[in-house]
Amino acid sequence: MVILDGKKVSEKILNTVKEKISGMEVIPHLVVILAGDNPASEIYVNNKKKAAQKIGIKSTVIKYPSDISEETLLGKIRELNDNNDVTGILVQLPLPEHINKNKIINAISPRKDVDGFHPENVGKLVIGEEPYFYPATPQGIIMLLDEYNIQLEGADAVIIGRSNIVGKPMAQMLLKRNATVTVLHSYSKNIQEKIKTADILISAVGKKIVRCKMVNKNSVIVDVGIFRNSDGKLTGDVDFDFVSPSCGFISPVPGGVGPMTIASLMYNASKIYK
Ligand code: GUN
Repeated sequence: MVILDGKKVSEKILNTVKEKISGMEVIPHLVVILAGDNPASEIYVNNKKKAAQKIGIKSTVIKYPSDISEETLLGKIRELNDNNDVTGILVQLPLPEHINKNKIINAISPRKDVDGFHPENVGKLVIGEEPYFYPATPQGIIMLLDEYNIQLEGADAVIIGRSNIVGKPMAQMLLKRNATVTVLHSYSKNIQEKIKTADILISAVGKKIVRCKMVNKNSVIVDVGIFRNSDGKLTGDVDFDFVSPSCGFISPVPGGVGPMTIASLMYNASKIYK
């Protein structure tokens, strides 16, 4: 079994991005909008800011209270779209419940949409055109798999979870690389049998779902889940201690997909479109 070391690979990517930025005439400027007081979001936004700082990307975090109006948020996004000094805009999700998430995402210029969540970027990805940005988590996972020379072409890939942030774009990106893709979700039948067929298994659920004897011995396991177990320890969707001895490759939590997502986002944030 080989560990997919996201920490190591992310450092390599961040160094490459840092070098690229040091040679750029215009310094990229990422603006992150954080609305409300979700503690996990605060941590994620902080990590993004720290990573940007480390590699020379200018970053600004704009914080709003949870009762911020949709209109104020939309107004700020329009202002950032028109500001030539701002090259990337990221609205941290989830947003407070009274705000229409899609309306907010639709307002971001696709050329500054470093998350790749705007319908124009999603549409380009689906029809096989190059989007301005690929969503950070699936792009980071592909970077990780490529670093370990894992063959995607012709592979049977099983994704657990169908979110707009991970599952759906992951499926599209793997299809683009000629994998055969199955997406499992809460209505799927015979989940265990389908997991067992996977050459590549990507779990993005947020609860312990992949256990001992569920995977085949050459499979590549990518764990996107991250949450605290009852002892307060950070853990993922995969029962690492039991699954890892009986698979080919596995990404740990923490130290797997998490740092890759940040590196992939920084890669996106280093791109500037006019
Ligand atoms: N919340 C959880 N993951 C993400 C992400 O990739 N982007 C944004 N904007 N919010 C998130």
